[in-house]
This record gives sequence, C-alpha cells and structure tokens, in this order.
Amino acid sequence: MRNSRVSSRKTSRITRTLYIILLFAISIFIFLFYTKDLLENEQNPLFSDTSHLHHQSQQIRSSGSVQFVDQQLWASTFSRRVHPCVNPTAKYKAAQESNRYMTVKCNGGLNQMRTGIADMVAVARIMNATLVIPHLDKRSFWQDSSVFGDIFDEDHFIRSLQRDVRIVKELPRQLESVPRARKHFGSWSGMSYYENMTQLWREHQVIHVAKSDSRLANNDLPLDIQRLRCRALYHALRFSPPIEVLGKRLVERLRLRGGHYIALHLRYEKDMLAFTGCTYGLSDAESEELRIMRESTHHWKIKKINSTEQRNAGLCPLTPREVGIFIKALGYPASTLIYIAAGKIYGGAGRLSELTLQFPNVVSKETLATKAELEAFSHHASQNAAIDYIISVESNVFIPSHSGNMARAVEGHRRFLEHKKTITPDRQGLIEVFNKLDSGQLVEGPTLTNIVKRMHRNRRGASRKRNGPPLGIKSRARFRYEESFYQNPYPECICN
Ligand SMILES: *[C@@H]1O[C@H](CO)[C@@H](O)[C@H](O)[C@H]1NC(C)=O
Ligand SMILES: *[C@@H]1O[C@H](CO)[C@@H](O)[C@H](O)[C@H]1NC(C)=O
Ligand SMILES: *[C@@H]1O[C@H](CO)[C@@H](O)[C@H](O)[C@H]1NC(C)=O
Repeated sequence: MRNSRVSSRKTSRITRTLYIILLFAISIFIFLFYTKDLLENEQNPLFSDTSHLHHQSQQIRSSGSVQFVDQQLWASTFSRRVHPCVNPTAKYKAAQESNRYMTVKCNGGLNQMRTGIADMVAVARIMNATLVIPHLDKRSFWQDSSVFGDIFDEDHFIRSLQRDVRIVKELPRQLESVPRARKHFGSWSGMSYYENMTQLWREHQVIHVAKSDSRLANNDLPLDIQRLRCRALYHALRFSPPIEVLGKRLVERLRLRGGHYIALHLRYEKDMLAFTGCTYGLSDAESEELRIMRESTHHWKIKKINSTEQRNAGLCPLTPREVGIFIKALGYPASTLIYIAAGKIYGGAGRLSELTLQFPNVVSKETLATKAELEAFSHHASQNAAIDYIISVESNVFIPSHSGNMARAVEGHRRFLEHKKTITPDRQGLIEVFNKLDSGQLVEGPTLTNIVKRMHRNRRGASRKRNGPPLGIKSRARFRYEESFYQNPYPECICN
C-alpha cells in the first residue's frame, strides 16, 4: 500500500515533468514560429532600431493564445525605448523683442496650412522676426471662410511659443501702410537661404510671405529649429475649444461603441478623383463629370490621364470596395468599427455600400454626432477636417487610402505620440492583387491574407529614421522626394 502510493506519486511527478516539458516545447515552437516573421521584418534596411522586435516577442511569450491575434491587430508599434523630445538644447536663447514683422498668407487645405504655419514659426525665428498671426487660405478648393482663431486656439499659440518667437495678433497700425517686401520664398529652403533673406530688413520693416507650404527643407537644419517645428505643430497649434470638445466627445463615443476602432482616411472624394484621373469602376457619366472638372480647374496642370495606367502605377486612391478587401485581408473581423475620416464620398451611400457590405460598423461624423452638434461646423471644410484629424490621431489604427497632406500629418503625429499603428497601403502591390481577384486568378481567403500581410509587414508605422531622397537624384529635385519632416519627425523630435 505504502509502496504503491510512493510509486503513484512518482508516476504523477513524471507525468507532471513530461507535461511541463511538452508545454515548454510548444511555447518554444510558437515563439520560433512568430519570430521567423519578425526576423524577416528586420531585414528591411530602413529599420534603424530593433526595439520593436524585442517588444513584440515579449508579448508573444506572455500570451501566445487566440487573444494574441487580436492584440496583434490593435497593438501600437510603440517601442518603450523611444519617446517624444522637443525641448530646446542648452544653447537655445529666448526670443528677443523685434520690431521687424512677418505677415503670412497660408495656402492649401487644413493640413498643408498647419505644417506651413509650423514652418513659418521656424522661419520667423531664423530671421528674428515678430510673426503676425497668419491669414488662412479662403480660395482653395475647400472654400472656407474660417480665420485663424476659428480653427486654432490663438492665445494658446502665442503663449506657448513665447520663448521661441514673438507673435502678435495684428500688425501694428502704423505699419499697415508701409511698403512690404513681398516674397515667395523658395521651396524647401535651408538656413543659409533664410539668413541671406535677412538682407531684406535693410530696406523693409515688414516682409509678407505669399505662400506657406513647403518653404522649409526637411533635413539639414539645426536641431533647435527642427524641435521648434515640432513644438509649434504638436503643442502650440491646438484646435479651438469648440473643435477640440466635439472631437474628443466623438472619440469617447467611438470607444464606448467598440473599444477599438480604425480611422480610415477614405480619400475617395470628387476633387481627388478628378485630379488623379482615376475612374476605375465608375460609370461613363461619372468619368465624364470628373474629366470636365479636371479640365476646368486651372491650377491642375495635367489634363490627359489614362486611368488604367494611373491605377497600375499605384497612383489612385483605393476604392471603397478595395479598402474593404484590404482591411479584411489584414485580418480585421467584419464587426470592426471603422470611422470614415473624409468629406463627401463620390457616389454617396451607394458607392460606400461596397465597403459597408463587408464592414457593417462603418460610421462617420454625420452618424456619430447629432445635427445640432455639427451645425456650427457646416460649410467649414477645414473645421470638419480638424474634427477628422483629432479622431484619426486618437484611433487605434489609422489607414489612409491615398497619400496626401492629411495622411502624412496624421502618420507623423501618431509616430510622435507613441508609434500608434498606421498601416500605409502598398497601392501598387495591391493593384496587382486586385487585378488577379478580378480575373479569377486569386480568390479571397487565407492565400490572399498571406500575400497582403506580407506586403504590409514594414508599413505599420514602426520607428525608423526619416528617409532621405531616393538614390540617384542629385539636383534640387531631390527635396521633393524626401520623406516629409512632419511625416516622420524621427530622430529630431523622437529620442531613444
Ligand atoms: C538674430 O538676433 C540675434 C540676437 O538678437 C543675433 O545674434 C543673430 O545674429 C540674429 N540673426 C540674424 C539672422 O539676423
Ligand atoms: C542672397 O540673396 C541675394 C538677393 O536677395 C542673391 O542675389 C544672392 O545670390 C543670395 N546669396 C545666396 C548665397 O543665396
Ligand atoms: C490606357 O492604357 C492602357 C494600358 O496601357 C491601354 O490598354 C488603353 O488602350 C489606354 N486607353 C486609352 C483610352 O488610351
């Protein structure tokens, strides 16, 4: 009896040991299985930093269950070793009073103006000017009569930059009538250009800057100037209280509904389709309407576009249907809550149904907010865009269907905050996939999922240094092709 008890205890100990060894082997197997993927990830030369690898594999070891798949879908690409850093260096001096003034006229839509304003703050600092609150574009496609204070918190802007640049609400009355030096500053200009421009002060007390977009280089500027751009954009340019309040309220509503949500910048709007000449899947009448719009818009230089070639080159915004296939192939379940950050979708609810058939929980400002809440913002495209911006920055996953100022600005801001996940579709690669789906060479399912996931492994907003110009471009043209500072303010404003 005693003996048998000892032996049964012995067997149970052996069983337990075997069981533990088996569990251990399984977890090693799972671990290796996933790290294989992660290691392939590493081969991308763009990754300057391996911390994301460490972070993700830790997650795998600690869970390794079905829930893990979910986490993988929503987890940020955040790495504990990086954090925002915008403080000036020790040699930075507080701004001095200056009786030289710079007035600015911003151009473009909301995000082009925001980054332009941040650049003008830096230019005013370089040129020792007092900056007058910029005038916003009222004539762009979006036709918005908003002034600076309607969109931004003006007092906060002035106060939070007081160490950097003196900013005033208006030009002093006695200077209103003095002749100004009117300048179109050169695109992507550097320090020496603006230092040279200070010669203008010899003859003028006021410089008027006629255009604010892309006037400052992305790279090769002093660290303190780069950090000033980040302080201006991410801290000083806060939206006005009514916009902030509604934006935050809608984020809360989204969280209550689904916990997690994807913000989809569905740039399937009339102007974008007309501009890019993308008519895939549209009726003849629609294609004709877009062609007429393109031909009659003066500042769009390219008039003749072959839609098929444009699409195959990856230059078209994804259609609602394509976006649905894409998000599904990434592994997001049909119940996923998707917020559409966009203006009017071309083709309206009918066209959008190509997405909502696949993802019924698609919402927008119009369905989340009441008519009364949106009333104050109607007819103000920039203010609506600001609400979309807030909701996009706060989202768990941000997916832009097309590149552009909003996509770049939101991606950069999310990198700055904590490397929240931004999935940038590889449109050229995806078109090949969609063409195969159309021709029946491929069907939706695990194979498609594998292809699409693999294609986007390095397009999830993980930390890496900002890209320089593509190889082989030497002239000034290279500035145009560099990754924008505001799309990826690493390493200047994100530190290890
Ligand atoms: C700006 O002012 C500072 C001191 O006030 C001076 O040292 C610097 O040279 C000035 N910069 C330019 C570009 O004039
Ligand atoms: C400085 O500006 C002047 C005129 O504004 C221009 O003629 C000169 O080429 C510029 N020099 C440099 C080095 O940019
Ligand atoms: C557009 O380009 C495609 C592919 O190159 C070609 O097959 C088609 O004929 C072109 N369409 C027109 C209208 O030129």
